[in-house]
Amino acid sequence: MGKGQELYKKAKKLIPGGTQLLSKRPEMFLPEQWPAYYEKAKGCEIWDLDGKKYTDTSYMGIGANILGYADEDVNKAVKEAVDKGNMSTLNCPEEVELAERLVKLHPWAGMVRYARTGGEAVAIAVRIARAKTEKDIILFCGYHGWHDWYLSTNLADDKALDGHLIPGLNPLGVPRGLKGTSIPFAYNDPESFLNLVEKHRGKIAAVVMEPIRNFAPSKEFLETIRKTTEKEGIVFIFDEITAAWRQNMGGAHLAFTVRPDIAVFGKAMSNGYPMAAIIGKDDVMDVAQDTFISSTYWTEKIGPAASLATLDKLAKEKVPEHLVKTGFQIQEGWKAMAEKNSLEVNVSGIAPLGHFGFKHKNPLALKTLFVQEMLEQGFLATTGFYVSFAHKQEHVDSYIKAVDKAFASISSALKAGDLEKRLKGPIAHPGFKRLT
Ligand SMILES: Cc1ncc(COP(=O)(O)O)c(C=O)c1O
Repeated sequence: MGKGQELYKKAKKLIPGGTQLLSKRPEMFLPEQWPAYYEKAKGCEIWDLDGKKYTDTSYMGIGANILGYADEDVNKAVKEAVDKGNMSTLNCPEEVELAERLVKLHPWAGMVRYARTGGEAVAIAVRIARAKTEKDIILFCGYHGWHDWYLSTNLADDKALDGHLIPGLNPLGVPRGLKGTSIPFAYNDPESFLNLVEKHRGKIAAVVMEPIRNFAPSKEFLETIRKTTEKEGIVFIFDEITAAWRQNMGGAHLAFTVRPDIAVFGKAMSNGYPMAAIIGKDDVMDVAQDTFISSTYWTEKIGPAASLATLDKLAKEKVPEHLVKTGFQIQEGWKAMAEKNSLEVNVSGIAPLGHFGFKHKNPLALKTLFVQEMLEQGFLATTGFYVSFAHKQEHVDSYIKAVDKAFASISSALKAGDLEKRLKGPIAHPGFKRLT
């Protein structure tokens, strides 16, 4: 067992749940073997506590590091912000410059508020929508964070969120009075959406959804939501926390004709430094003056400075083009290597955020062996690959070669019927659950 797993054992006694983010739990990748902690990260490489170097071909800071780790241009801006004092009694001018930049990229929006994490930023958008409409119900699809408004969905049915990215989310501790205030509908299913509008007419504050993630939206789906929300006076919110900046400069919704009333950004907008933005139409955003939304660290300088430098580099280096091209190569690579090794996989996700799943009765066991085989070849890998600007052709080529070897090993284990015996530890967890 490496130093990382040793430390993680200790962490689980000191930190309930082991980590601060479900998606960083070693159990989500390779229980008892995942390196768990890092000493240093640069580009698309990570050094663990034993000094072992890996190429990160998994989630790149869980979607935050679109340019790669410790990007020099972003770090330069951050170091300047640190040297000038990242916090003071006065505000930092960068937040005005960033607001101008965001509304220029999204001409339908006129005003901007900030936060530092994605989930809190969506919670702010939901508050603004409820304040604007003076209504309570939120219709949504997809994952939007840990806050009460979202988790309350599972008070009505503890499996309601299972089809929306993370299964098993427990709403324990969320006030039972919120039951029925957030209701999911299926992505790309205008009927299920319209039925909910019919049922809750006059009580709906907002619709919250990602414009795109695993599948492209049908024109009918987006247009139905836009037309209905307009007609019913419902605030339409696009959660762009993960999808934005990867296929074009700005929100992924810019590729479609439909415009929301609010869009929420986080993660990649600042390449690993905490930053989030809520942008929206003037008449909706202005209500943020009438409801109390305020926090000390939403005012510091590092986030906006990192974001301005990140947006500069995304545009200058045409990063979205690189991500799309590289993402396609990876998705094609999975399909080709699966076919070569007689495995069946489902590939989904926009190219820069590709995923695959094994078509098998026990896909988690196959995933666990895949992660184990990739780790042995020096890759932090899982059944998804979030591409960054630091992933160059050489990384893609060596990754696909390693995938070939890992798939060959899975294929031979399936033929021999000894897949679980080849695992050196327990099977990966499918979603949220208690660890101890
Ligand atoms: C679409 C979407 N919304 C919200 C969140 C929550 O963001 P955070 O983890 O920064 O709170 C995420 C995180 O994965 C996300 O993908």
